[in-house]
Amino acid sequence: MDTTLGLYATGALALALLVTWLPARLRRSRAKHRSLAGHSRISRRLAALVPFYSYGEQEFFASDGAPADVATTRRAALERLARDYRERHPRALALGERLEPSVSDVAFTNAYRVPFQYRDYLRERLKVASFVEESADVRLRDHDGNWSYDLSGSYGVNLFGYDFYKECIDAGAARVHALGPVLGPYHPIIEENVRRIREISNLDEVSFHMSGTEAVMQAVRLAQYHTRRPNVVLFCGAYHGWWDGVQPGVGNPRRVTDVYTLADMSERSLAVLRTRDDVACLLVNPLQALHPNSSAPGDSALVDSSRAARFDRGAYSKWLAKLRAVCTERDIALIFDEVFLGFRLARGGAQEYFGVRADLVTYGKTLGGGLPVGVLCGTHRFMKRFRDDRPSDVCIARGTFNSHPYVLGAMNEFLRRLDTPAIAATYAGLDERWNSRAASLNERLEAQGLPVRVANMASVWTILYLRPSRYNWMFQFYLRAEGLNLSWVGTGRLIFSHNYSDADFAAVADRFVRAAAAMHADGWWWSAPALTNKAIRQRILRELLRARFGRRAPAAAPTALVNRRA
Ligand SMILES: Cc1ncc(COP(=O)(O)O)c(C=O)c1O
Repeated sequence: MDTTLGLYATGALALALLVTWLPARLRRSRAKHRSLAGHSRISRRLAALVPFYSYGEQEFFASDGAPADVATTRRAALERLARDYRERHPRALALGERLEPSVSDVAFTNAYRVPFQYRDYLRERLKVASFVEESADVRLRDHDGNWSYDLSGSYGVNLFGYDFYKECIDAGAARVHALGPVLGPYHPIIEENVRRIREISNLDEVSFHMSGTEAVMQAVRLAQYHTRRPNVVLFCGAYHGWWDGVQPGVGNPRRVTDVYTLADMSERSLAVLRTRDDVACLLVNPLQALHPNSSAPGDSALVDSSRAARFDRGAYSKWLAKLRAVCTERDIALIFDEVFLGFRLARGGAQEYFGVRADLVTYGKTLGGGLPVGVLCGTHRFMKRFRDDRPSDVCIARGTFNSHPYVLGAMNEFLRRLDTPAIAATYAGLDERWNSRAASLNERLEAQGLPVRVANMASVWTILYLRPSRYNWMFQFYLRAEGLNLSWVGTGRLIFSHNYSDADFAAVADRFVRAAAAMHADGWWWSAPALTNKAIRQRILRELLRARFGRRAPAAAPTALVNRRA
């Protein structure tokens, strides 16, 4: 009898758990973005299965089924680009070769500039080496003495022009020189920095860190500490630094179990936030407004032309307002990660630009006045690192170099200059200026029948491709050949500094159009009428399966794959 009762009780308990747990689990699954990036665990497993294979000469030039004459034109074009590059960059190329075996970053970035199938063939012919020695205005001088327009923006640090930051660093260093690199006690300059940052962020407290990654790390830890809840919500595709606590997908070997990656701009995600009791914080990177649910668009992933981007300020503002409301309702800490965008869209950052207040805000990059930094601001409630009634229960933040006097000095100069009439003026008409620059470039591209366009969020741009193609990644080399300096992600992200004059921009636009026209003339955008992005992806899938399982190619598949399976 007792046993029967016990069984009933266990069954009832299990049923009750199922009835409450299952709907919540289903709700969370439905709130994931349907792309692979939306499923971090699956994408990590799949990434580990992708085999390397490499195109031989024939496939390199005709992986889209191009006829022999087009492939010949492309081959000649590659040889010409490679020759020009070798002639213009002999010292940089030699230095790159010497460093590659001993600087891990050089080896990695060299390996991931283009889709991996093309890597080996390309690298034997055309190498890129990035060494620069001087900056002036909006241009850079490389190791071989060539000047180029900088579209890399130093990962977003360069907002007001390199000369501005040189001044911040020099003047800041002079202000703290008497103290030198003394760590522990603060230089009194900190007081003014804190006052200014509090006023800009409209928040109560500030903490200083050595990188944006660490500022995000501390924001998340504090949210977990104060809400006593374990889980973090972030949106599909959003980057928040390289701490594994906010990087559940590919690239992080550690298994992350406390992050929910939900679909951006989706009512289903709101339903999850509204109904769960285990969410400590919601992290938002407002840069995602340009391409919700997609990762930073690097050229090594540019296998077809499906890259999409479109910024809608009104729609994103409404979305953020909804997030604010649900976070308030559920006592979830709303964290704006403004490490990248802070100060770019408005003096008061994304909070001001989108008209929504966060509980915690991270800044970094440009706020250091050219030196490395991460800053966290928040309400008293979330920033406090100890509990008055539980003396041993603390939330620690460390970092030898945080509040380094030289960084505080350069930051102080940055913050003071921010309020000068010259810098304040750069914010006036910002959207109109950059939107009209993008529109005018797009008009020129359209008028010349070139299958490439730009999309932008103020001065952060990305390049889009109109015609299904397997060779869009080649465009980065044409842009570089025209003296436009790109970051490692190539055409995925162009970052302009706000000291670009109309004349500077006109020069960039001329070069951009010339690069696109040359690439077009060289046949890389040749496309069979039947070629679609879907067909490209299907073909790549077939190649992957063949490389993985060693099956013979179907009749229409490539003939020159070199399988590098161990
Ligand atoms: C939105 C965002 N958060 C955090 C980080 C990390 O900052 P850091 O590279 O200074 O660690 C970045 C860097 O690109 C970023 O864009």
